[in-house]
Amino acid sequence: MSSPFPYDSLSTDEQFFGRDDELERISKIVQYSNNLLIHSKRRMGKSSLINYFLETHQDNYLCIYVDIFDISSKEDFAKSLLKALSNAQKIDLKSAVKNLTSFFKRVRVEPTIDTKTLEYSIKPIVATLSFAEMMDDFFYTLDQLSKKQQIILAIDEFQQIAAIKDVKLDSLLRKYIQQRKNISFVFLGSKRHLLTSLFAYKAPLYELATHFELQPLQIEDISDYSSRFLNIDKKLIAYIYEKSDGETKMIQHVLHLLYIRKKGAITKTEIDESLKEIINSKDSSYKIVFDTLNNNQKTALKIVGKYKKGFFAGSVLNEYNIKKQTLQSCVESLFKKELIDKEDDGYFIPDRTFELWVERLVE
Ligand SMILES: Nc1ncnc2c1ncn2[C@@H]1O[C@H](COP(=O)(O)OP(=O)(O)OP(=O)(O)O)[C@@H](O)[C@H]1O
Ligand SMILES: [Mg+2]
Repeated sequence: MSSPFPYDSLSTDEQFFGRDDELERISKIVQYSNNLLIHSKRRMGKSSLINYFLETHQDNYLCIYVDIFDISSKEDFAKSLLKALSNAQKIDLKSAVKNLTSFFKRVRVEPTIDTKTLEYSIKPIVATLSFAEMMDDFFYTLDQLSKKQQIILAIDEFQQIAAIKDVKLDSLLRKYIQQRKNISFVFLGSKRHLLTSLFAYKAPLYELATHFELQPLQIEDISDYSSRFLNIDKKLIAYIYEKSDGETKMIQHVLHLLYIRKKGAITKTEIDESLKEIINSKDSSYKIVFDTLNNNQKTALKIVGKYKKGFFAGSVLNEYNIKKQTLQSCVESLFKKELIDKEDDGYFIPDRTFELWVERLVE
């Protein structure tokens, strides 16, 4: 059974709602084969947005989507690109294999069955190839295909390329990107400081993409969509939105829990119970994380959760009996552990559920 409110998997076309302006914006950019950088806080809906766009534009473009979240070497990066390219064409398997074989110079391809989904896909065989050879084959084939059709290549979790140190992937990509016609590169990711530094002034990718920060869904859109499945007042949608701090995943999770209860008109108490249920369900895993911190780091996390900015003020330091320098170094180590993130004027806990859990500690 599936619910109309996905919260831990990408939305299907039927479950996707809102985002009309954003879809229009993407459309205008890729139409002219320009490049785009989409970033936002975690779990706002970047991956869902680009996947929906690509799914609904298969007729106009050859759409390639690659998520590089788990790459740990440059070879992984090249392999992910080749795999995504091999499976992008929505034609029958036999023709696709034939087609790819005619383009690739060194990569061989063979059909395989995905053990998870039991679906057929195409596997590039690259064991004997070097990184440079794989990249060369990838961009050569992309070039050939782009002569016949406009291409969109979306690379999700793009900030991961910064973790590859033995080769400067950004400089390398710059060369390829600048030479291409008829191809839009769409970069997506959530670690803003990492991502934006890749596109910063004088960085190799500087000015190669239009930036756009994905905002939360509109309350109006959430209300319109959820009223098809739930008897819920718009004011209460606004309440869920506020409690979730606009995080799409959390909004969807609350709506899902309300949906499975399905008992007439939704009340504020039911929403509070759903929120509690979500936070409680994470309690043991958050405790494990919390216990890896030393006492000063624990205090720092509570302070960030409560104040977010301006917490180096004397009154806060006194309240928590912590020295400014100690707090500074603890904040820095929490940042390195990716438990907190930086905004222009302060820090925040990027996972809204964790943030509410921490807030509960200081209540
Ligand atoms: N427009 C939408 N309509 C319906 N559901 C959505 C929409 N946008 C996001 N969601 C749901 O919210 C959850 C988070 O979305 P998604 O994974 O796309 O966000 P993200 O920004 O890519 O997150 P991350 O930062 O973790 O990569 C998913 O379960 C997704 O199905
Ligand atoms: Mg994502």
